[in-house]
Amino acid sequence: MLSLGCTRPFMTGLLKTLRCLTQGSNSFQKIFAGRVLACPQSTDSKTGNEHWHTGKRWHFTVAGLLTGTGGVLIWGLHKNQVERAKTKDTISTEQVDNHEMPSGNRQSGSQTYTRAEVIQHKTLADRVWVTYLNDVYDITDFIELHPGGERIMLAAGGALEPFWAMYAVHKQEHVLDILKGYKIGELCSEDKREANLNASDPYIKEPQRHPAFRVNSSKPFNAEPPADILAANYLTPNDLFFKRNHLPVPDINPLTYRLQIEGEGIKSLSLSLEEIHSKFPKHTVIATLQCAGNRRSEMNKIKQVKGLDWGIAAIGNASWSGAKLCDVLTSVGVKEEEWEHVHFEGLDKDLSGTPYAASIPIHKAMDKHGDVLLAYEMNGEDLPKDHGFPVRVIVPGIVGARNVKWVGRIFVSKEESTSHWQQNDYKGFSPSVDWDTVDFRTAPAIQDLPVQSAITEPHNGSNISATCEEITVKGYAWSGGGREIIRVDVSLDGGKSWQVASLTGQQQKAGRAWAWKLWTLTAPLPIGQEQLEIVCKAVDSSYNVQPDTVAPIWNLRGVLSNAWHRIYISVQK
Ligand code: MTE
Repeated sequence: MLSLGCTRPFMTGLLKTLRCLTQGSNSFQKIFAGRVLACPQSTDSKTGNEHWHTGKRWHFTVAGLLTGTGGVLIWGLHKNQVERAKTKDTISTEQVDNHEMPSGNRQSGSQTYTRAEVIQHKTLADRVWVTYLNDVYDITDFIELHPGGERIMLAAGGALEPFWAMYAVHKQEHVLDILKGYKIGELCSEDKREANLNASDPYIKEPQRHPAFRVNSSKPFNAEPPADILAANYLTPNDLFFKRNHLPVPDINPLTYRLQIEGEGIKSLSLSLEEIHSKFPKHTVIATLQCAGNRRSEMNKIKQVKGLDWGIAAIGNASWSGAKLCDVLTSVGVKEEEWEHVHFEGLDKDLSGTPYAASIPIHKAMDKHGDVLLAYEMNGEDLPKDHGFPVRVIVPGIVGARNVKWVGRIFVSKEESTSHWQQNDYKGFSPSVDWDTVDFRTAPAIQDLPVQSAITEPHNGSNISATCEEITVKGYAWSGGGREIIRVDVSLDGGKSWQVASLTGQQQKAGRAWAWKLWTLTAPLPIGQEQLEIVCKAVDSSYNVQPDTVAPIWNLRGVLSNAWHRIYISVQK
């Protein structure tokens, strides 16, 4: 395995030249990106993203430009490494061909080490060593190339297995190939372990999932249902509701479960599940939950973004029941005017023990018309394991990311959550911002979501017979912040002319329209067309409308993708 460290100048020049030629082309990345030396397929360990980028912007660009030129590039990189090695005398040709790395501290790959020696190598200063199975690796030079950033340091001085078990995308041949390049030796025989020791799978207790899901990542599990089931059910069935997990699903015993309510100067409370049921009135709210990344795949078609490639079904509508958060907070003496934010921590934790966490503004939490719930039921059943059993937060009108599942701790604060998902994720940026220039501190965390709609039937690319007199188009429409959908316009000719769809769904109170509207348009099939470009756009009660195209709202994380939804169908003679 070669390091890109010594090929960087060559790469940068080549990338700059090729960038504009190949921008937006994804097919080759999927085939080759994992084979490009320091451009492994990455999963953002916090998001479960499975795509080609490293968080290092020039890596990201590698993924973006490998179209057709990939073979040349790979060959070029390799040759360049060899040439540089030969001329600079820092590394021998043989070393390059053996995928050895130049390094002052690099030891022979056949050396043996004790585990105690490996543990000494936990810092960049001491060089960072890890083990995988029985082998020892010096990954110091890979750290800045690691797609998941500095989280790789969690494994410093120890075994990779528990981390790879957590972020299963690592278990791929090309990742092993990359690792091999950093091998410096083996563990001594006393310390050789059974191959599967410490490699217990944190996903072993994950629930069964519906086979119809389109799985975006399996570990952590992220999946969306076939889009047509959405418009077929006002309340999305629990087993087909999209699932968005950043970490393994925690296995929580409802009998020992406790929810901690805390805040400086307020009396803390520890509630059992039974107490949440019995001490507070039960409220039921029909609310739509949408992931900020819903429809991200349309942004990917413009230019590669970082994130799971969600289609149009990372959204669902359910009836949620539980205690109102404002009742629980009031019971411990929380006063809205004394605080700014309410924080939620999940019981799902990463290997460093950091839980999934988020916060919402105090006014939303304390507003009895805000309908924020500590939900224990979904569509009349106990909350399913994937959706937060035994208790999750439902924050109607607000981005899915703040609807914390498996909630174990709630506290009030003057500050916003410092969690990764609040500060360095789920924020929107200008299309001009890229991974070179992004500064997450400059954008507010997404809370209310914008107006949205999509066509769930017919499917993009499907056919209709020219003998049909009519065509029926169906979909969903929803807006954040409790804004009701008041109209959906549908076009069969790419937006030149429009017809108004009929809406169905429960009437909810003004400013509290948390649930989506389903819509249908049945119209005469246009005569003499070989292809129809069907478009939908929704209008909410503030007369917000969706933007007509994706490019002007493109952002590097691929969030808030809510342009007019377009599909193309063929009319068969
Ligand atoms: N809560 C916890 N504890 N862990 C998570 O990974 N994912 C969030 C949110 N709450 C998440 C979480 C995100 S990004 C979304 S979109 C919703 O849960 C998805 O909820 P669902 O899986 O019930 O559809």
